[in-house]
Amino acid sequence: MKSMEADDGKNLTTLLEASKSLSGTLNLKHSLHRVLEILEQRHGAARSIVVLLGQDSDLHIEASNGIAPEGQRARYSLGEGIVGRVVQSGKAIVIPRVSLEPMLLNRAFNRKKLRGEESFLCVPIVSNRKVIGALGVDLPFKRDRDYDRSIKFLRVVASLIGQAVRVERLVEAETHRLVEENIHLREELRERYDFSHMVGSSGGMRQVYEQIGRVSATNTTVLIRGESGTGKELVARAIHYNSPRAKKPFVKVSCSALPDTLIESELFGYEKGAFTGAQSRKPGRFESAEGGSLLLDEIGDLNPAIQVKLLRVVQEREFERLGSTQTIKANVRLIAATNRNLEKAIAEGTFREDLFYRLNVYTIFIPPLRERKPDVMALADYFLEKYTKEHGKKIRRISTPAIDMLMSYHWPGNVRELENAIERAVLVCDGNVIHGHHLPPTLQTAEASGTLVKVSLSAAVASYEKDLIQDALKSTRGNCSRASRLLSTTERILNYKVKKYGIDSGRFRA
Ligand SMILES: Nc1ncnc2c1ncn2[C@@H]1O[C@H](COP(=O)(O)OP(=O)(O)OP(=O)(O)O)[C@@H](O)[C@H]1O
Ligand SMILES: [Mg+2]
Repeated sequence: MKSMEADDGKNLTTLLEASKSLSGTLNLKHSLHRVLEILEQRHGAARSIVVLLGQDSDLHIEASNGIAPEGQRARYSLGEGIVGRVVQSGKAIVIPRVSLEPMLLNRAFNRKKLRGEESFLCVPIVSNRKVIGALGVDLPFKRDRDYDRSIKFLRVVASLIGQAVRVERLVEAETHRLVEENIHLREELRERYDFSHMVGSSGGMRQVYEQIGRVSATNTTVLIRGESGTGKELVARAIHYNSPRAKKPFVKVSCSALPDTLIESELFGYEKGAFTGAQSRKPGRFESAEGGSLLLDEIGDLNPAIQVKLLRVVQEREFERLGSTQTIKANVRLIAATNRNLEKAIAEGTFREDLFYRLNVYTIFIPPLRERKPDVMALADYFLEKYTKEHGKKIRRISTPAIDMLMSYHWPGNVRELENAIERAVLVCDGNVIHGHHLPPTLQTAEASGTLVKVSLSAAVASYEKDLIQDALKSTRGNCSRASRLLSTTERILNYKVKKYGIDSGRFRA
Protein backbone atom coordinates (compact mmCIF):
# COMPACT_ATOMS: atom_id res chain seq x y z
CA MET A 1 0.00 0.00 0.00
CA LYS A 2 2.85 2.30 0.91
CA SER A 3 4.50 1.66 -2.44
CA MET A 4 1.24 2.29 -4.33
CA GLU A 5 0.97 5.70 -2.77
CA ALA A 6 4.59 6.43 -3.58
CA ASP A 7 3.88 5.35 -7.20
CA ASP A 8 0.88 7.66 -7.40
CA GLY A 9 2.95 10.59 -6.21
CA LYS A 10 5.66 9.78 -8.77
CA ASN A 11 3.12 9.44 -11.56
CA LEU A 12 1.52 12.72 -10.70
CA THR A 13 4.87 14.52 -10.75
CA THR A 14 5.59 12.97 -14.16
CA LEU A 15 2.25 14.11 -15.53
CA LEU A 16 2.75 17.63 -14.24
CA GLU A 17 6.18 17.86 -15.77
CA ALA A 18 5.05 16.30 -19.01
CA SER A 19 2.16 18.71 -19.31
CA LYS A 20 4.43 21.64 -18.55
CA SER A 21 6.89 20.55 -21.18
CA LEU A 22 4.20 19.96 -23.80
CA SER A 23 2.45 23.25 -23.29
CA GLY A 24 5.52 25.42 -22.81
CA THR A 25 6.89 25.26 -26.31
CA LEU A 26 5.89 25.25 -29.93
CA ASN A 27 8.63 22.80 -30.81
CA LEU A 28 6.71 19.56 -30.57
CA LYS A 29 9.59 17.17 -31.25
CA HIS A 30 11.62 18.78 -28.52
CA SER A 31 8.88 18.59 -25.90
CA LEU A 32 8.02 15.01 -26.83
CA HIS A 33 11.61 14.06 -26.34
CA ARG A 34 11.60 15.74 -22.95
CA VAL A 35 8.54 13.69 -21.91
CA LEU A 36 10.26 10.46 -22.95
CA GLU A 37 13.33 11.46 -20.97
CA ILE A 38 11.16 11.91 -17.89
CA LEU A 39 9.78 8.40 -18.44
CA GLU A 40 13.34 7.13 -18.46
CA GLN A 41 14.52 9.07 -15.43
CA ARG A 42 11.54 8.51 -13.21
CA HIS A 43 10.14 5.18 -14.42
CA GLY A 44 13.20 3.39 -15.70
CA ALA A 45 11.98 3.21 -19.32
CA ALA A 46 14.92 1.75 -21.24
CA ARG A 47 13.47 2.88 -24.54
CA SER A 48 10.41 4.77 -25.66
CA ILE A 49 8.92 6.02 -28.90
CA VAL A 50 6.11 8.24 -30.07
CA VAL A 51 4.88 7.20 -33.49
CA LEU A 52 2.46 9.31 -35.49
CA LEU A 53 0.26 8.47 -38.41
CA GLY A 54 1.32 10.29 -41.57
CA GLN A 55 -0.91 11.41 -44.42
CA ASP A 56 -0.10 8.30 -46.44
CA SER A 57 -1.29 6.14 -43.46
CA ASP A 58 2.11 4.93 -42.53
CA LEU A 59 3.64 5.37 -39.12
CA HIS A 60 6.86 7.22 -38.46
CA ILE A 61 8.79 7.81 -35.26
CA GLU A 62 8.17 11.42 -34.26
CA ALA A 63 10.28 11.24 -31.10
CA SER A 64 12.27 8.55 -29.32
CA ASN A 65 14.57 7.96 -26.40
CA GLY A 66 17.21 5.26 -26.10
CA ILE A 67 17.09 4.40 -29.78
CA ALA A 68 20.01 4.73 -32.20
CA PRO A 69 19.62 7.07 -35.21
CA GLU A 70 19.23 4.15 -37.68
CA GLY A 71 16.36 2.82 -35.60
CA GLN A 72 14.66 6.21 -35.54
CA ARG A 73 14.08 6.01 -39.27
CA ALA A 74 11.94 2.86 -38.89
CA ARG A 75 8.50 2.96 -40.47
CA TYR A 76 5.43 0.82 -39.84
CA SER A 77 2.24 0.28 -41.75
CA LEU A 78 -1.11 0.39 -40.13
CA GLY A 79 -1.84 -2.96 -38.48
CA GLU A 80 1.74 -4.08 -38.75
CA GLY A 81 3.45 -5.39 -35.60
CA ILE A 82 2.40 -4.34 -32.14
CA VAL A 83 2.62 -0.60 -32.74
CA GLY A 84 0.69 -0.88 -36.01
CA ARG A 85 -2.04 -2.86 -34.29
CA VAL A 86 -2.40 -0.41 -31.43
CA VAL A 87 -2.91 2.45 -33.89
CA GLN A 88 -5.31 0.44 -36.01
CA SER A 89 -7.43 -0.84 -33.16
CA GLY A 90 -7.08 2.05 -30.74
CA LYS A 91 -6.49 -0.49 -27.98
CA ALA A 92 -3.48 -0.68 -25.69
CA ILE A 93 -1.28 -3.77 -25.81
CA VAL A 94 0.89 -5.11 -23.03
CA ILE A 95 3.67 -7.60 -23.61
CA PRO A 96 4.93 -8.67 -20.19
CA ARG A 97 7.95 -10.60 -21.52
CA VAL A 98 9.33 -9.41 -24.84
CA SER A 99 11.51 -12.53 -25.16
CA LEU A 100 8.37 -14.62 -25.59
CA GLU A 101 6.55 -12.40 -28.12
CA PRO A 102 6.85 -13.33 -31.80
CA MET A 103 4.73 -10.35 -32.97
CA LEU A 104 7.37 -7.79 -32.01
CA LEU A 105 9.01 -6.48 -35.17
CA ASN A 106 12.11 -5.13 -33.42
CA ARG A 107 12.42 -2.66 -36.23
CA ALA A 108 13.61 0.34 -34.24
CA PHE A 109 15.57 -1.73 -31.76
CA ASN A 110 16.59 -5.35 -31.73
CA ARG A 111 15.49 -6.75 -28.38
CA LYS A 112 16.92 -10.19 -29.11
CA LYS A 113 20.27 -8.98 -27.88
CA LEU A 114 18.89 -7.92 -24.50
CA ARG A 115 20.52 -9.35 -21.40
CA GLY A 116 17.67 -8.90 -18.92
CA GLU A 117 13.95 -9.45 -19.53
CA GLU A 118 11.78 -6.46 -20.42
CA SER A 119 8.11 -5.60 -20.82
CA PHE A 120 6.67 -3.57 -23.70
CA LEU A 121 3.62 -1.36 -23.19
CA CYS A 122 1.97 0.47 -26.05
CA VAL A 123 -1.01 2.84 -25.84
CA PRO A 124 -2.81 4.74 -28.59
CA ILE A 125 -2.51 8.52 -28.92
CA VAL A 126 -5.92 10.01 -29.54
CA SER A 127 -6.84 13.47 -30.78
CA ASN A 128 -10.37 14.59 -31.64
CA ARG A 129 -11.53 11.02 -31.03
CA LYS A 130 -9.26 9.73 -33.76
CA VAL A 131 -6.21 7.57 -33.22
CA ILE A 132 -3.26 9.54 -34.56
CA GLY A 133 -0.37 7.48 -33.23
CA ALA A 134 0.99 5.48 -30.34
CA LEU A 135 3.28 5.75 -27.36
CA GLY A 136 5.47 2.68 -26.76
CA VAL A 137 7.60 2.11 -23.69
CA ASP A 138 10.09 -0.65 -22.79
CA LEU A 139 10.24 -1.21 -19.03
CA PRO A 140 12.39 -3.62 -17.02
CA PHE A 141 10.44 -6.78 -16.34
CA LYS A 142 8.98 -6.90 -12.82
CA ARG A 143 7.04 -9.89 -11.66
CA ASP A 144 4.71 -7.83 -9.46
CA ARG A 145 4.10 -4.94 -11.92
CA ASP A 146 0.48 -3.76 -12.00
CA TYR A 147 0.06 -3.50 -15.79
CA ASP A 148 -3.43 -2.05 -15.57
CA ARG A 149 -2.17 0.83 -13.51
CA SER A 150 0.82 1.33 -15.78
CA ILE A 151 -1.42 1.40 -18.85
CA LYS A 152 -3.80 3.86 -17.22
CA PHE A 153 -0.90 6.10 -16.41
CA LEU A 154 0.55 5.86 -19.95
CA ARG A 155 -2.89 6.63 -21.37
CA VAL A 156 -2.90 9.92 -19.54
CA VAL A 157 0.58 10.72 -20.83
CA ALA A 158 -0.63 9.80 -24.34
CA SER A 159 -3.64 12.05 -24.03
CA LEU A 160 -1.37 14.97 -23.13
CA ILE A 161 0.69 14.16 -26.20
CA GLY A 162 -2.47 13.96 -28.32
CA GLN A 163 -3.49 17.43 -27.22
CA ALA A 164 -0.05 18.87 -27.93
CA VAL A 165 -0.05 17.35 -31.43
CA ARG A 166 -3.48 18.79 -32.05
CA VAL A 167 -2.39 22.27 -30.97
CA GLU A 168 0.73 22.05 -33.08
CA ARG A 169 -1.25 21.02 -36.14
CA LEU A 170 -3.71 23.85 -35.60
CA VAL A 171 -0.88 26.35 -35.31
CA GLU A 172 0.74 24.86 -38.39
CA ALA A 173 -2.46 25.09 -40.40
CA GLU A 174 -3.04 28.64 -39.24
CA THR A 175 0.51 29.66 -40.07
CA HIS A 176 0.16 28.02 -43.45
CA ARG A 177 -3.11 29.84 -44.02
CA LEU A 178 -1.56 33.17 -43.02
CA VAL A 179 1.46 32.62 -45.22
CA GLU A 180 -0.81 31.74 -48.13
CA GLU A 181 -2.98 34.75 -47.47
CA ASN A 182 0.06 36.96 -47.24
CA ILE A 183 1.47 35.67 -50.52
CA HIS A 184 -1.90 36.13 -52.12
CA LEU A 185 -2.26 39.69 -50.82
CA ARG A 186 1.24 40.63 -51.85
CA GLU A 187 0.65 39.16 -55.27
CA GLU A 188 -2.56 41.10 -55.56
CA LEU A 189 -0.85 44.28 -54.42
CA ARG A 190 2.01 43.75 -56.80
CA GLU A 191 -0.39 43.13 -59.61
CA ARG A 192 -2.55 46.07 -58.78
CA TYR A 193 -0.32 48.75 -57.37
CA ASP A 194 3.35 48.13 -57.89
CA PHE A 195 3.81 49.22 -61.45
CA SER A 196 7.46 50.22 -61.78
CA HIS A 197 7.42 52.99 -59.19
CA MET A 198 4.10 54.51 -60.06
CA VAL A 199 2.89 56.73 -57.27
CA GLY A 200 -0.66 57.82 -56.53
CA SER A 201 -3.73 56.12 -55.18
CA SER A 202 -6.45 58.53 -56.31
CA GLY A 203 -9.52 57.00 -57.89
CA GLY A 204 -8.28 57.99 -61.34
CA MET A 205 -4.95 56.26 -60.88
CA ARG A 206 -6.49 53.17 -59.32
CA GLN A 207 -8.54 52.75 -62.44
CA VAL A 208 -5.38 53.11 -64.52
CA TYR A 209 -3.67 50.39 -62.43
CA GLU A 210 -6.63 48.12 -62.86
CA GLN A 211 -6.60 48.64 -66.62
CA ILE A 212 -2.87 47.95 -66.76
CA GLY A 213 -3.45 44.76 -64.78
CA ARG A 214 -6.19 43.65 -67.10
CA VAL A 215 -4.53 44.42 -70.41
CA SER A 216 -0.93 43.44 -69.70
CA ALA A 217 -1.65 39.72 -69.79
CA THR A 218 -2.95 40.00 -73.35
CA ASN A 219 -1.39 40.95 -76.69
CA THR A 220 -3.95 43.66 -77.35
CA THR A 221 -2.83 46.93 -78.87
CA VAL A 222 -3.15 49.69 -76.30
CA LEU A 223 -3.68 53.39 -76.83
CA ILE A 224 -2.60 55.57 -73.92
CA ARG A 225 -4.06 59.05 -73.82
CA GLY A 226 -3.41 61.93 -71.49
CA GLU A 227 -1.95 65.40 -71.32
CA SER A 228 1.79 65.94 -71.52
CA GLY A 229 3.62 64.79 -68.40
CA THR A 230 0.82 62.65 -66.99
CA GLY A 231 2.92 59.49 -67.10
CA LYS A 232 2.01 57.85 -70.41
CA GLU A 233 5.46 56.39 -70.90
CA LEU A 234 5.44 55.07 -67.35
CA VAL A 235 2.14 53.30 -68.02
CA ALA A 236 3.49 51.85 -71.27
CA ARG A 237 6.48 50.44 -69.38
CA ALA A 238 4.23 49.07 -66.66
CA ILE A 239 2.17 47.23 -69.25
CA HIS A 240 5.29 45.73 -70.79
CA TYR A 241 6.94 44.73 -67.52
CA ASN A 242 3.76 43.15 -66.23
CA SER A 243 3.22 41.19 -69.42
CA PRO A 244 4.51 37.77 -70.50
CA ARG A 245 6.88 39.72 -72.78
CA ALA A 246 8.64 41.32 -69.78
CA LYS A 247 11.94 39.54 -70.45
CA LYS A 248 11.98 40.66 -74.09
CA PRO A 249 12.82 44.21 -75.16
CA PHE A 250 10.75 47.31 -74.57
CA VAL A 251 11.49 49.71 -77.43
CA LYS A 252 10.30 53.29 -77.71
CA VAL A 253 10.02 55.37 -80.88
CA SER A 254 9.28 59.02 -80.49
CA CYS A 255 7.31 59.87 -83.61
CA SER A 256 7.65 63.62 -83.06
CA ALA A 257 11.38 63.67 -82.44
CA LEU A 258 12.31 62.28 -85.85
CA PRO A 259 12.00 64.10 -89.14
CA ASP A 260 9.54 62.50 -91.58
CA THR A 261 12.35 61.31 -93.81
CA LEU A 262 13.99 59.33 -91.04
CA ILE A 263 11.03 57.87 -89.25
CA GLU A 264 10.37 55.21 -91.89
CA SER A 265 13.90 53.81 -91.84
CA GLU A 266 13.92 54.10 -88.08
CA LEU A 267 10.77 51.97 -87.78
CA PHE A 268 11.42 49.38 -90.46
CA GLY A 269 15.20 49.43 -90.92
CA TYR A 270 17.04 49.41 -94.24
CA GLU A 271 19.32 47.37 -96.46
CA LYS A 272 22.79 48.44 -97.47
CA GLY A 273 22.51 50.97 -100.32
CA ALA A 274 18.78 51.55 -99.85
CA PHE A 275 19.50 55.27 -100.04
CA THR A 276 22.55 57.51 -100.10
CA GLY A 277 24.33 57.10 -96.80
CA ALA A 278 22.96 53.62 -96.12
CA GLN A 279 26.37 52.04 -95.80
CA SER A 280 25.30 48.86 -94.10
CA ARG A 281 22.09 47.04 -93.27
CA LYS A 282 20.34 48.37 -90.18
CA PRO A 283 17.43 46.70 -88.41
CA GLY A 284 14.50 48.93 -87.50
CA ARG A 285 12.74 49.34 -84.18
CA PHE A 286 10.14 46.72 -85.08
CA GLU A 287 12.95 44.20 -85.38
CA SER A 288 14.65 45.37 -82.19
CA ALA A 289 11.38 44.90 -80.32
CA GLU A 290 10.87 41.34 -81.62
CA GLY A 291 9.10 39.27 -78.97
CA GLY A 292 8.64 42.36 -76.80
CA SER A 293 6.71 45.61 -76.91
CA LEU A 294 7.03 48.70 -79.09
CA LEU A 295 5.87 52.09 -77.82
CA LEU A 296 4.92 54.50 -80.57
CA ASP A 297 5.09 57.75 -78.65
CA GLU A 298 3.32 60.89 -79.89
CA ILE A 299 1.53 58.85 -82.54
CA GLY A 300 -0.57 61.92 -83.34
CA ASP A 301 2.48 63.56 -84.88
CA LEU A 302 3.05 60.86 -87.48
CA ASN A 303 2.76 62.05 -91.09
CA PRO A 304 0.07 60.50 -93.31
CA ALA A 305 2.50 58.65 -95.58
CA ILE A 306 3.97 56.76 -92.64
CA GLN A 307 0.51 56.23 -91.19
CA VAL A 308 -0.34 54.06 -94.21
CA LYS A 309 2.77 51.93 -93.75
CA LEU A 310 2.10 51.60 -90.06
CA LEU A 311 -1.48 50.56 -90.75
CA ARG A 312 -0.18 47.59 -92.72
CA VAL A 313 2.08 46.40 -89.89
CA VAL A 314 -0.70 46.80 -87.38
CA GLN A 315 -3.07 44.82 -89.60
CA GLU A 316 -0.81 42.17 -91.12
CA ARG A 317 2.00 42.10 -88.59
CA GLU A 318 4.55 42.14 -91.39
CA PHE A 319 6.79 44.66 -93.12
CA GLU A 320 9.89 45.04 -95.32
CA ARG A 321 13.13 46.82 -94.68
CA LEU A 322 13.74 49.83 -96.92
CA GLY A 323 15.39 48.66 -100.11
CA SER A 324 14.32 45.04 -99.57
CA THR A 325 11.54 42.87 -100.92
CA GLN A 326 11.84 40.26 -98.21
CA THR A 327 8.84 40.32 -95.92
CA ILE A 328 9.55 40.15 -92.21
CA LYS A 329 7.05 38.90 -89.65
CA ALA A 330 6.67 41.08 -86.58
CA ASN A 331 5.84 39.52 -83.24
CA VAL A 332 5.49 42.76 -81.36
CA ARG A 333 2.99 44.13 -78.88
CA LEU A 334 2.06 47.66 -79.92
CA ILE A 335 1.46 50.45 -77.48
CA ALA A 336 0.66 53.91 -78.82
CA ALA A 337 0.62 57.11 -76.80
CA THR A 338 -0.61 60.58 -77.58
CA ASN A 339 -1.58 63.84 -75.95
CA ARG A 340 -3.39 64.97 -79.09
CA ASN A 341 -7.09 64.95 -79.65
CA LEU A 342 -7.08 62.27 -82.34
CA GLU A 343 -10.81 62.62 -83.09
CA LYS A 344 -10.18 66.25 -83.94
CA ALA A 345 -7.15 65.30 -86.04
CA ILE A 346 -9.33 62.82 -87.95
CA ALA A 347 -11.94 65.52 -88.56
CA GLU A 348 -9.20 67.81 -89.81
CA GLY A 349 -7.84 65.08 -92.07
CA THR A 350 -4.39 64.82 -90.45
CA PHE A 351 -4.90 61.41 -88.87
CA ARG A 352 -6.20 58.31 -90.67
CA GLU A 353 -9.43 57.00 -89.31
CA ASP A 354 -8.64 53.36 -90.17
CA LEU A 355 -5.34 53.56 -88.27
CA PHE A 356 -7.12 55.15 -85.34
CA TYR A 357 -9.56 52.24 -85.09
CA ARG A 358 -6.75 49.72 -85.30
CA LEU A 359 -4.88 51.41 -82.47
CA ASN A 360 -7.88 52.28 -80.37
CA VAL A 361 -8.60 48.68 -79.34
CA TYR A 362 -8.05 49.29 -75.65
CA THR A 363 -7.66 52.81 -74.36
CA ILE A 364 -6.16 53.91 -71.08
CA PHE A 365 -6.84 57.52 -70.22
CA ILE A 366 -4.59 59.13 -67.61
CA PRO A 367 -6.36 62.03 -65.93
CA PRO A 368 -4.44 65.31 -65.59
CA LEU A 369 -2.84 65.96 -62.22
CA ARG A 370 -5.26 68.81 -61.36
CA GLU A 371 -8.07 66.24 -61.42
CA ARG A 372 -6.35 63.97 -58.93
CA LYS A 373 -5.39 66.31 -56.15
CA PRO A 374 -4.88 63.51 -53.60
CA ASP A 375 -1.87 62.36 -55.63
CA VAL A 376 -0.07 65.72 -55.49
CA MET A 377 1.34 65.26 -51.99
CA ALA A 378 2.13 61.58 -52.49
CA LEU A 379 4.08 62.48 -55.63
CA ALA A 380 5.73 65.50 -53.98
CA ASP A 381 6.94 63.33 -51.08
CA TYR A 382 8.11 60.66 -53.48
CA PHE A 383 10.13 63.14 -55.56
CA LEU A 384 11.41 64.88 -52.41
CA GLU A 385 12.87 61.61 -51.17
CA LYS A 386 14.22 60.72 -54.58
CA TYR A 387 16.01 64.03 -55.20
CA THR A 388 17.13 64.53 -51.60
CA LYS A 389 18.95 61.23 -51.93
CA GLU A 390 20.21 61.98 -55.40
CA HIS A 391 21.66 65.37 -54.43
CA GLY A 392 22.93 64.22 -51.04
CA LYS A 393 20.79 66.70 -49.05
CA LYS A 394 19.12 66.34 -45.67
CA ILE A 395 15.66 67.74 -46.28
CA ARG A 396 13.01 66.30 -44.02
CA ARG A 397 9.74 67.87 -44.98
CA ILE A 398 7.76 70.42 -46.93
CA SER A 399 6.41 73.40 -44.95
CA THR A 400 2.67 73.89 -44.60
CA PRO A 401 2.55 77.03 -46.76
CA ALA A 402 4.56 75.28 -49.46
CA ILE A 403 2.11 72.38 -49.29
CA ASP A 404 -0.74 74.84 -49.71
CA MET A 405 0.95 76.23 -52.79
CA LEU A 406 1.48 72.79 -54.28
CA MET A 407 -2.11 71.87 -53.59
CA SER A 408 -3.66 74.99 -55.07
CA TYR A 409 -1.60 75.09 -58.24
CA HIS A 410 -3.23 73.70 -61.39
CA TRP A 411 -0.19 71.88 -62.81
CA PRO A 412 -0.54 72.37 -66.56
CA GLY A 413 2.66 70.36 -67.04
CA ASN A 414 1.28 67.61 -64.80
CA VAL A 415 3.58 65.15 -62.99
CA ARG A 416 6.62 66.19 -64.99
CA GLU A 417 6.17 69.81 -63.87
CA LEU A 418 5.72 68.72 -60.25
CA GLU A 419 8.83 66.57 -60.48
CA ASN A 420 10.85 69.50 -61.86
CA ALA A 421 9.48 71.85 -59.20
CA ILE A 422 10.52 69.53 -56.40
CA GLU A 423 13.95 68.87 -57.85
CA ARG A 424 14.52 72.61 -58.17
CA ALA A 425 13.35 73.17 -54.60
CA VAL A 426 15.72 70.47 -53.33
CA LEU A 427 18.60 72.15 -55.16
CA VAL A 428 17.94 75.66 -53.85
CA CYS A 429 16.95 74.61 -50.33
CA ASP A 430 19.74 75.20 -47.81
CA GLY A 431 17.98 74.04 -44.66
CA ASN A 432 16.03 70.91 -43.90
CA VAL A 433 12.57 72.20 -44.82
CA ILE A 434 11.23 73.11 -48.25
CA HIS A 435 9.61 76.55 -47.97
CA GLY A 436 7.26 78.32 -50.33
CA HIS A 437 10.04 80.51 -51.69
CA HIS A 438 11.97 77.43 -52.81
CA LEU A 439 9.21 76.62 -55.26
CA PRO A 440 9.28 77.98 -58.82
CA PRO A 441 7.96 81.53 -59.44
CA THR A 442 4.98 80.17 -61.35
CA LEU A 443 3.64 78.84 -58.07
CA GLN A 444 4.25 81.97 -56.02
CA THR A 445 1.24 83.94 -57.14
CA ALA A 446 -0.66 81.07 -58.53
CA GLU A 447 -1.98 80.27 -55.10
CA ALA A 448 -4.67 82.88 -55.26
CA SER A 449 -5.55 82.96 -58.94
CA GLY A 450 -4.48 79.58 -60.25
CA THR A 451 -3.04 81.41 -63.21
CA LEU A 452 0.43 82.49 -64.14
CA VAL A 453 1.35 86.07 -63.39
CA LYS A 454 4.77 87.67 -63.31
CA VAL A 455 5.97 87.96 -59.73
CA SER A 456 6.71 91.35 -58.28
CA LEU A 457 9.23 91.91 -55.52
CA SER A 458 6.55 92.85 -53.03
CA ALA A 459 4.53 89.74 -53.84
CA ALA A 460 7.57 87.52 -53.41
CA VAL A 461 8.45 89.20 -50.11
CA ALA A 462 4.86 88.88 -48.92
CA SER A 463 4.86 85.21 -49.80
CA TYR A 464 8.12 84.69 -47.93
CA GLU A 465 6.81 86.59 -44.92
CA LYS A 466 3.59 84.61 -44.84
CA ASP A 467 5.65 81.47 -45.08
CA LEU A 468 7.81 82.35 -42.09
CA ILE A 469 4.82 83.32 -39.98
CA GLN A 470 2.97 80.14 -40.72
CA ASP A 471 6.02 78.09 -39.92
CA ALA A 472 6.55 79.91 -36.63
CA LEU A 473 2.89 79.40 -35.74
CA LYS A 474 3.24 75.76 -36.56
CA SER A 475 6.18 75.25 -34.24
CA THR A 476 4.45 77.16 -31.41
CA ARG A 477 1.16 75.39 -32.07
CA GLY A 478 -0.67 78.59 -32.89
CA ASN A 479 0.65 80.57 -29.92
CA CYS A 480 0.99 84.13 -31.36
CA SER A 481 3.03 85.61 -28.55
CA ARG A 482 5.63 82.85 -28.70
CA ALA A 483 5.65 82.98 -32.46
CA SER A 484 6.31 86.73 -32.37
CA ARG A 485 9.29 86.16 -30.09
CA LEU A 486 10.59 83.46 -32.43
CA LEU A 487 10.48 85.97 -35.27
CA SER A 488 11.94 88.80 -33.16
CA THR A 489 8.91 90.99 -33.66
CA THR A 490 6.04 92.20 -31.48
CA GLU A 491 2.80 90.37 -30.99
CA ARG A 492 0.95 93.43 -32.31
CA ILE A 493 2.80 93.35 -35.63
CA LEU A 494 2.40 89.59 -35.87
CA ASN A 495 -1.34 89.83 -35.29
CA TYR A 496 -1.56 92.53 -37.92
CA LYS A 497 0.26 90.36 -40.49
CA VAL A 498 -1.76 87.28 -39.58
CA LYS A 499 -4.87 89.30 -40.41
CA LYS A 500 -3.32 90.83 -43.53
CA TYR A 501 -2.37 87.45 -45.00
CA GLY A 502 -5.56 85.79 -43.85
CA ILE A 503 -3.65 83.17 -41.87
CA ASP A 504 -5.88 80.92 -39.80
CA SER A 505 -3.80 80.46 -36.66
CA GLY A 506 -6.46 78.14 -35.25
CA ARG A 507 -5.44 75.35 -37.60
CA PHE A 508 -2.06 75.07 -35.87
CA ARG A 509 -3.57 74.57 -32.44
CA ALA A 510 -4.37 70.90 -32.86
N1 LIG B 1 2.28 58.21 -61.20
C1 LIG B 1 3.57 58.57 -61.28
N2 LIG B 1 4.41 58.20 -60.31
C2 LIG B 1 5.71 58.56 -60.36
N3 LIG B 1 6.25 59.28 -61.33
C3 LIG B 1 5.46 59.67 -62.34
C4 LIG B 1 4.07 59.33 -62.36
N4 LIG B 1 3.53 59.85 -63.47
C5 LIG B 1 4.52 60.47 -64.11
N5 LIG B 1 5.69 60.37 -63.45
C6 LIG B 1 6.98 60.96 -63.84
O1 LIG B 1 6.71 62.16 -64.52
C7 LIG B 1 7.56 62.29 -65.66
C8 LIG B 1 6.70 62.36 -66.89
O2 LIG B 1 6.12 61.11 -67.16
P1 LIG B 1 6.02 60.52 -68.64
O3 LIG B 1 7.28 60.79 -69.41
O4 LIG B 1 5.59 59.10 -68.54
O5 LIG B 1 4.86 61.41 -69.19
P2 LIG B 1 4.19 61.47 -70.61
O6 LIG B 1 2.73 61.37 -70.40
O7 LIG B 1 4.82 60.45 -71.50
O8 LIG B 1 4.53 62.92 -71.07
P3 LIG B 1 4.69 63.47 -72.58
O9 LIG B 1 3.34 63.47 -73.20
O10 LIG B 1 5.19 64.86 -72.35
O11 LIG B 1 5.66 62.59 -73.24
C9 LIG B 1 8.47 61.09 -65.65
O12 LIG B 1 9.68 61.44 -65.03
C10 LIG B 1 7.73 60.08 -64.82
O13 LIG B 1 8.63 59.23 -64.18
MG1 LIG C 1 6.03 60.72 -73.15
